[in-house]
Amino acid sequence: MTDYSKPMLREDALVGETILVTGGGTGLGKSMARYFLQLGANVIICSRKEEVVLATAAELAAETGGKTLGLACDVRKYEEIENVIAKGIEKFGNITGLVNNAAGNFISPTERLSHKAFDIIVDIVLKGSYNTTLALGKYWIAQKIKGTVMSIVTTYATTGSAFVVPSACAKAGVQALTRSLAVEWAKYGIRLNAIAPGPFPTDGAWSRLFPDNIQGKFNFESKIPVRRVGHHQELANLAAYLMSPYSAYVNGEIMVIDGGEWLQGAGEFSFLDVLTKEEWDEVEAVVRRRK
Ligand code: HXC
Ligand code: NAP
Repeated sequence: MTDYSKPMLREDALVGETILVTGGGTGLGKSMARYFLQLGANVIICSRKEEVVLATAAELAAETGGKTLGLACDVRKYEEIENVIAKGIEKFGNITGLVNNAAGNFISPTERLSHKAFDIIVDIVLKGSYNTTLALGKYWIAQKIKGTVMSIVTTYATTGSAFVVPSACAKAGVQALTRSLAVEWAKYGIRLNAIAPGPFPTDGAWSRLFPDNIQGKFNFESKIPVRRVGHHQELANLAAYLMSPYSAYVNGEIMVIDGGEWLQGAGEFSFLDVLTKEEWDEVEAVVRRRK
């Protein structure tokens, strides 16, 4: 049986890199940060809750033997990002990579949202991502550093999705940022890519998107052709590849990692998967009779 928890890249793949992971204290950000450290990178993590980032930075340093820096920062505030960059450079000498991972999200019928509820999601996701990208981009261009940006979007950034409209709008903006700057900043040696994950269980996402009181109503895995959710290491493997020099020729890509979920949702006849062999025998007989 396949072990989805296995690391993929060679052990020194990120030696010499210093990567800032926003929202790196929890969930997928923490899993990516762990793997970057295992591959030799220094890692800076930041989020609003100082106690969470400090605890995660200490935990990951002890676990991997790597060098970490945890800092409180609200990505909606440009000056707080500038502070993270300054402290990161002070500790590690430079910063070479950025993972735009911080996000806010919850399910709601859109007409129930206040304008402030819409703002908060768009501000964390879109404003937060362009703030960090702009601040680090200016630094990289001035210092002639060939930096790499990787943003975590979602599959519905492309398709749109009911009930998570602010998130869909904001993530679509992050995709546009990625593709636009991938072209504009290539001349400085700066690359930008994104990952669009399907479902990867985390406390943050599950508590806000699949709360306990509605979980029983849906068979989640039946939405996914491979019939399982993602393993964090699978995402970390792809993220590490995109942050490493091995992906130097990949630029402006949005890489989907969802077990085929969005295509199953989009395919006109995907629903026929429920038919049994006997039902298919009947269907074939009926259809063949039509001349
Ligand atoms: C309607 C809501 C609401 C809800 C908050 N609001 N929750 N409106 N339904 N469930 C409204 C509030 O009433 C307020 O508007 C405004 O939103 C701001 O809410 P606050 O609680 O003051 O904000 P804050 O404490 O800063 O919390 C931000 C948050 C919270 C986004 C609401 O959920 C959070 O901190 N999230 C961070 C982590 C996260 O969301 N992780 C999941 C990412 S998963 P008013 O008008 O009353 O002032 C993800 C995966 C996607 O993106 C794909 C999965 C497959
Ligand atoms: P998570 O654990 O809730 O991660 C979100 C992180 O963002 C938290 O650490 C949070 O920390 C931080 N954050 C929120 N607002 C912030 C702000 N204003 N400034 C700085 N940091 C902030 O959820 P997750 O599932 O790991 O999500 C990680 C990323 O994956 C997100 O971009 C999400 O959209 C994306 N994604 C997840 C899934 C999935 O299935 N899990 C699928 C598709 C995409 P604080 O609260 O301390 O600020």
